[in-house]
Amino acid sequence: MRKQIAAANWKMNLTLEQGKALTEEIAQADLDLNDNRLVILGVPFPYLVTIKELLTGQPNMVVAAQNCYSKKSGAFTGEVSATMLTSIGIQYVIIGHSERREYFNETNDMLAEKVNICFENGLKPIFCCGEALEIREAGTQNSFVENQLKESLFHLSAEQLTGFIIAYEPIWAIGTGKTATSAQAQEIQVHIRAVMAAQYGAEVAESISILYGGSVKAANAKEIFGQPDVDGGLVGGASLIADEFVLIINGLK
Ligand code: PGA
Repeated sequence: MRKQIAAANWKMNLTLEQGKALTEEIAQADLDLNDNRLVILGVPFPYLVTIKELLTGQPNMVVAAQNCYSKKSGAFTGEVSATMLTSIGIQYVIIGHSERREYFNETNDMLAEKVNICFENGLKPIFCCGEALEIREAGTQNSFVENQLKESLFHLSAEQLTGFIIAYEPIWAIGTGKTATSAQAQEIQVHIRAVMAAQYGAEVAESISILYGGSVKAANAKEIFGQPDVDGGLVGGASLIADEFVLIINGLK
């Protein structure tokens, strides 16, 4: 069975002390984590090593970076490479979050390069996709998301996509308090799985964890995660509050 995942995206929030306190509270909580469930904390670069060390010996909880650069190494001041992340023991990285696409002009082509460099370095991408409000209102979200997947992932092999992680995040639901209904989430996530199945076959598509993101909180997590094609969530705001995030984790299927 594919993994059910609660992934936190701290974005550019918290001091190191706050991040450590939050991590400790979550790790010490009464978590219902079996081997089919995974908690991923997407933390800012400067905290990766510290938070990773705090999670040592904690089963089924790992840290992730929120981004990496598309090039191997070189004169790219301020950027962080996939090799650097693997060299400090990081296994996961969020790729193509809508904030990266919007504020840092990350294109589908660039994200294809980022995904490649992740695979070259043994890093597991959490690949984000999702449409803006105008696209949802025009009713073209399915083809829009399909194109994001095609342009950034379809050059990969079936082997690379087995057990892959996709996060569907409608931009209109991110940080807005406006959540997609569980039926809306299920509908597009079924579409995403069907797109992957058409290209790679049902077995690969069934192995992919497809997360929902966009104003997930303790009050709605269980219902959204209860949908058959929603394999957990990528959570921003509510992941910064220990009690909320613990309930979200315990809401996984
Ligand atoms: P949100 O953010 O939960 O605050 O809406 C989700 C995300 O951007 O990953």
